[in-house]
Amino acid sequence: MPRIGVDYYPEQWDRSLWEPDAMLMREAGVTVVRLAEFSWSRLEPEEGRFEFGWLDEAVELFGRHGIGVVLGTPTAAPPNWLARRYPDVLPLDSQLHPQYPGVRGHRCYNSPSLNRYAAVIVDKLASRYAHNPSVIGWQTDNEFSLIACHCPSCNDKFRAWLQRKYESLETLNREWGTVVWSGEFGQWSEVTTPLGGSKHLNPSYLLDYNRFQTDSAVAFQQMQVDILREKCPDRWVTHNLWSYPSYLDYYKLCETLDFASFDYYPHTSPDKTETSPYSGALSLDLARGVKRKNFWIMEQLSGSPGCWFPMWRMPYPGYIRAASWQSISRGADAVVHFRWRSALTGAEQFWHGLIDHSNVPGRRFREFRQLADEVNRLAPLLEGTTVRNETAILFSHEQHIALDIQPQASGMNYFENVKTYHKALTKLGIGVDVINWTEPLDGYKLVITPSLYLLDWDTASRLAQFAADGGTLVLMNRTGVKNLNNVCRMEPLPGPLAECAGVTVEEYDPIGGDMHRMTCAGGSSYEALQWADILSPVTAEPIAWYADDYFAGKPAVTLNRYGRGTVCYIGTNPEEAYFIHLFGSLADELGIGRLAGLPEGVQVSCRSKEGAAYLFIFNFTREDKEVNIGREYDSILTGGKAGSVLRVAPYGVEIVKV
Ligand code: GAL
Ligand code: ZN
Repeated sequence: MPRIGVDYYPEQWDRSLWEPDAMLMREAGVTVVRLAEFSWSRLEPEEGRFEFGWLDEAVELFGRHGIGVVLGTPTAAPPNWLARRYPDVLPLDSQLHPQYPGVRGHRCYNSPSLNRYAAVIVDKLASRYAHNPSVIGWQTDNEFSLIACHCPSCNDKFRAWLQRKYESLETLNREWGTVVWSGEFGQWSEVTTPLGGSKHLNPSYLLDYNRFQTDSAVAFQQMQVDILREKCPDRWVTHNLWSYPSYLDYYKLCETLDFASFDYYPHTSPDKTETSPYSGALSLDLARGVKRKNFWIMEQLSGSPGCWFPMWRMPYPGYIRAASWQSISRGADAVVHFRWRSALTGAEQFWHGLIDHSNVPGRRFREFRQLADEVNRLAPLLEGTTVRNETAILFSHEQHIALDIQPQASGMNYFENVKTYHKALTKLGIGVDVINWTEPLDGYKLVITPSLYLLDWDTASRLAQFAADGGTLVLMNRTGVKNLNNVCRMEPLPGPLAECAGVTVEEYDPIGGDMHRMTCAGGSSYEALQWADILSPVTAEPIAWYADDYFAGKPAVTLNRYGRGTVCYIGTNPEEAYFIHLFGSLADELGIGRLAGLPEGVQVSCRSKEGAAYLFIFNFTREDKEVNIGREYDSILTGGKAGSVLRVAPYGVEIVKV
């Protein structure tokens, strides 16, 4: 059931403020708070001395006001005594310099001391609050990121990880191709983490190191999850993800969690408030895709962000409410705002909360109150609803990392290209799931695969089967380039998908920032950017051709009938307008439901359950917009009628029962 909350730091506020804060929260409609995720030094002020009294009091207080508590395990900020007595806690960078305490995140997931002391504090917390009715669930740590640590434990564990994967040194040497530049290893002891941090290191080595460090974060979290499950089996466990692009594989990180959470800070500058909600929509769809279910927002924009960079603009009137409803519209079941009040001390004094330093609730607080009121009122209707789509984008953390290790052309970026596909679909009013590339594809009509640069035969056959069974598959350039060990394949591109695409790449040109054009069958012309595959159709039909340079007249995009389905291959990275044109016509051919004709900056999303569906409409611009929704519906937001042509105010929201 959708609910509204705030992040609160009792340890940062005078005790006399706790009660009035809790009262005001209740009055404002807050039903959940997150506490304690950075409070290790207050929970265990010195080794083995625990002080839970203050947290007991805070939990009791919120419970008394009917506010559920999410507790964060405090492991993202190890206290100074821990780092001083057990320096193995601190990560070492590729030059072997430690990351000092003072910021947070100063901990190596493989550190024996960190693991030992983290297990103790998590165990104490879990045991203490296991039966506390006010504690509704747990957040592990805070915004895990990939830590490229090179300490002795990371070295030992990396070596053991490689031994498990490759078994023998011969296999490792062969799979990585270490013969290049005399890099062959003669003994396991020669294999270390990638010291020196050079970009010239072997890409197979760098990719495996990234996978290993993801597994390190996963194991560190799993140690905590195991304790929480054992000591506190009746509560859920989640983690708050930072937005993509991340070096950490969120799919692996969330495998054993109950649901994913995401921290959402859409940009507030006037020049970004139209584009940012589009990339925000992608982030929210990614968050829903991590576990293929509804998720939580554990931190949501509440005021101007800033601190170690100049402050952004204050959220424009309506923006906080609209962005929160946007989260819910894309599957959030709770929106917890960061933070209740701006901090008086510390590095984040100007990362504004709902209430300013003055402690006088103002415009943003009133808007939050309105939001909480609406969400609480509509929660029973939205209970059990989720987002269902017929279109999917297959996101791949592995491709993102491999392409980050070896960028293919100037200005070409995996995640930025995913944003373009997603934005085109969003502008077309097509709902899209963004799921892991390894997920089953049942129920989808249209599947878009951003570059499958690393590709194995299993994945290729699964995708080919999807098309053979009647699906429409859109493949991008840089597909089938390498095997999963980041080694180039010796066969015409797109490698294992060449047959189903009905086309091969005769030659390619990394055109980078050079401007090129392509022309479609109907005569329309678009920019062809970043990359040019010069295509040689086998069974496929060209549907767009390059318009200039030595490859003028050569096919740039092809369409192949394959089994009962269709495979489209896009050899370049055209401008957004082309994707709008292509995805729009594919969706119409496939009968994919959409709300056509959305004005720029207007987004829609639908949540539904058996027997009920609700359409959310947003205007993320600073002018009124007219949106044709086809006919008159009942507005569940206002309780009145919503006409077939809606007038939506700047940052306005409408929710209709369809
Ligand atoms: C998040 C983090 C919060 C807070 C916020 C603002 O990344 O989880 O603790 O720091 O950013 O910077
Ligand atoms: Zn380490």
